[in-house]
Amino acid sequence: MRRAVCPGSFDPIHNGHVEIIARASNLFDEVIVAVSTNYAKKYRFEPDERLEMVRETIGGLRGVSVEPMGDGLLADFCKLHGADAIVKGLRSTVDYQYETPMAVMNRHLTGVETVFLAADNRYMHLSSSLLKEVQSLGGDVADYLPRTVLKRLRSNTP
Ligand code: PNS
Repeated sequence: MRRAVCPGSFDPIHNGHVEIIARASNLFDEVIVAVSTNYAKKYRFEPDERLEMVRETIGGLRGVSVEPMGDGLLADFCKLHGADAIVKGLRSTVDYQYETPMAVMNRHLTGVETVFLAADNRYMHLSSSLLKEVQSLGGDVADYLPRTVLKRLRSNTP
């Protein structure tokens, strides 16, 4: 039984995340989507709402569950849940440079490996921050967000 963790703050979850989680679920028997909250960060959505949006979006994927990660170490979360790997999407060399030190540190901490999946061409330019900015300025981001997330984003526009 191989178990992976897909971590993120998911503020909010978008189609690029969904694609990586779906591909992770093809590679592993179980995938836990871990919704993190760094209390020093300012989010658009509350922890419960981010969790709810992830559940609504990927609830139908076989072998995938969703858990709050809180603000502790990802490596500890992986150990607690018996995960063999962390799965992350890479959009560019910028992501690679940002992610590799964390991958090495997480392996040092608990031995958990990180598996990088190259982002699909359709989603290489996506980030939650970019989508929030474009949407709040009136741009159309419907192609990139699950329907329920788009609805919540519209009713939560600053
Ligand atoms: O969606 P994000 O905000 O890019 O997700 C970042 C996340 C949650 C994956 C990263 O910040 C993380 O791993 N946070 C947990 C804290 C931690 O373990 N820090 C040390 C990393 S070596």
